[in-house]
Amino acid sequence: MSNYHIKGLEEYYQVYRKSVENPELFWEEIAEENFIWRKRWDTVLEWDFEKPEVKWFEGAQLNITENCLDRHLYHRGDKTAILFEPNDPKDPAEHITYKELHKRVCKFANVLKDKGIKRGDRVCIYVPMIPELIVSMLACARIGAVHSVVFAGFSSAALRTRINDASCKMVITSDGSFRGSKTIDLKGIVDEACKETPSVDSVLVVKRIRSEVHMEDGRDHWVAPLLEKASIDCPAETMEAEDPLFILYTSGSTGMPKGMLHTTAGYMIYSSYTFKNVFQYREEDVYWCSADIGWITGHSYIAYGPLANGATSVLFEGVPNFPDWGRFWEVIDKHKVNQFFTAPTAIRALAKEDLSHVMKHDLSSLKVLGTVGEPINEEAWHWYNNNIGKKNCPIVDSYFQTENGGIMLSPIAYATPTIPTYATLPIPGIQTCLMDEEGNEIKGNQVSGRLCIKFPWPSIARTIWGDHKRYKDTYFSTFKGKYFTGDGALRNETGYYRITGRVDDVIIVSGHNLGTAPIEDAINEHPDVAESAIVGFPHDIKGNALYGYVTLKEAGKQRNPDTVRKEINQLITENIGAIAKLEKIQFTNGLPKTRSGKIMRRILRKIATGEGDNLGDISTLLNPEVVEAVKQGNQLM
Ligand code: WTA
Repeated sequence: MSNYHIKGLEEYYQVYRKSVENPELFWEEIAEENFIWRKRWDTVLEWDFEKPEVKWFEGAQLNITENCLDRHLYHRGDKTAILFEPNDPKDPAEHITYKELHKRVCKFANVLKDKGIKRGDRVCIYVPMIPELIVSMLACARIGAVHSVVFAGFSSAALRTRINDASCKMVITSDGSFRGSKTIDLKGIVDEACKETPSVDSVLVVKRIRSEVHMEDGRDHWVAPLLEKASIDCPAETMEAEDPLFILYTSGSTGMPKGMLHTTAGYMIYSSYTFKNVFQYREEDVYWCSADIGWITGHSYIAYGPLANGATSVLFEGVPNFPDWGRFWEVIDKHKVNQFFTAPTAIRALAKEDLSHVMKHDLSSLKVLGTVGEPINEEAWHWYNNNIGKKNCPIVDSYFQTENGGIMLSPIAYATPTIPTYATLPIPGIQTCLMDEEGNEIKGNQVSGRLCIKFPWPSIARTIWGDHKRYKDTYFSTFKGKYFTGDGALRNETGYYRITGRVDDVIIVSGHNLGTAPIEDAINEHPDVAESAIVGFPHDIKGNALYGYVTLKEAGKQRNPDTVRKEINQLITENIGAIAKLEKIQFTNGLPKTRSGKIMRRILRKIATGEGDNLGDISTLLNPEVVEAVKQGNQLM
């Protein structure tokens, strides 16, 4: 398997060079040697970042589930594919073999067909971290339906927006979900969302918490009795390389969430290649990514990437602090996990707790540690390295985005020497560059700029569902002919990259991407609110937290400020979800604006982060006088 398993830094550089000199040959060899195809491609790559349009492996036919399931049946049929660890450690773990997973996917796919789902139809999946989540995704892929997984922590309004945006024909959910010691009424949230979703014909309900739920006649169906009757025989639909595989929503700096569309062959190749290389997965390893499948990390690194490699992937339903803060370490010990992949925010929260929670468990099975989703600070990196990896496990700080489909920059475990806080080097095939604000590429090392990619990689999102113009404007218009990530980065003297954070109005809170606009829209729905602006400020555990500046109308100013704060956070919870709640709300009499009326977030951000004495020239503002008042208000927070 040439190129497929990089074993040292030297080899990394060789492979990288080849991937840049002849990207088409590079990916073609990987496609040929590592996957099964029903028909070979006619062309490897056609692309034009002006349109923008990217097509990989045109003419090829395949089904991704044959690559994730069927082809493993002979050699790995009895190997565990999904190792399900339930929320409550008192409940037994479930080892789902490749044979069993294949059977469950086929049955589920037949249920989808029976309920009228056809190739190309969109299916919304709002299911907690239980096996049916992966089963239903693969069942969609089996028959060519497009899944849109919505994180089961989003509110009914957020769910409705996403169902309607993709005109989903079906919603798959569960009666509820377990979350530590609590349960959440998912079906109730779906019912509320589906009051205004004209495209939805049916709702399939998985039983998980065994609660009483309302079942709408003709629309809602318990899935268990349907599965019981379903045949285990479901031939995989023949898909074209560029047929849509899934939509996954991510926040933008303005407006509606963006439904990033990923297609079949390129996504499969890239998620699989990066999984195998970054983590150096070996046949007998047990791998665990603790992300939620509602995010891209879960799609690529719990489901598709590991399964395409015939891996054993742990699916964890629980939370880090139930029944106590030792839960993660207990799971690693119990299942002898070899690769563990989590978010810096979880590491920071765990590092605050007593070390005895770690010491109680044997973590000697670990070989590789990973982080993803946000910058990791040095302190958290060292804590992870010393206490979890015992200085024996490389930490792969991997950087990517929903739009990218798979990891873009990361150390390759055991090949790339790591440096805390550095995502280090691009994955082969990823042609990174840094740009200045005038649109010139910044060459050389020891420089910083805006991170762009010059050349397509197989799993780049092909469009924003229903809004190709926005896709072009957001990613391809800032720097001509380049994909712009929206992140800033620096490149050190050896060419290693460190991601320095978003340069737009997206804020990463606990690793979740939050756009300011939808949150401000939710706040502005409050009858007492005149205007609002959200910025991020540093937070020990979450990385960033949200700081809201809110100007109230006269009537609102007479009310108890804490009551209004609660109401504002309630509105955010209803419209988006609890993850977007504001940590601090400062009431203002006005917000600094440019002469064209645009709120100057740069100034507000500085005030929120305690740099209010360093604002530079503010004399060109429309209303420079409000700045002093905002600064004084901040002192009181
Ligand atoms: C941020 C998550 C620093 C970045 C997989 C990016 C990171 C956004 C890292 C995408 C990292 C992700 N270091 N920042 N290792 N990984 N980010 O779409 O700002 O939920 O643009 O995908 O997370 O978030 P998304």
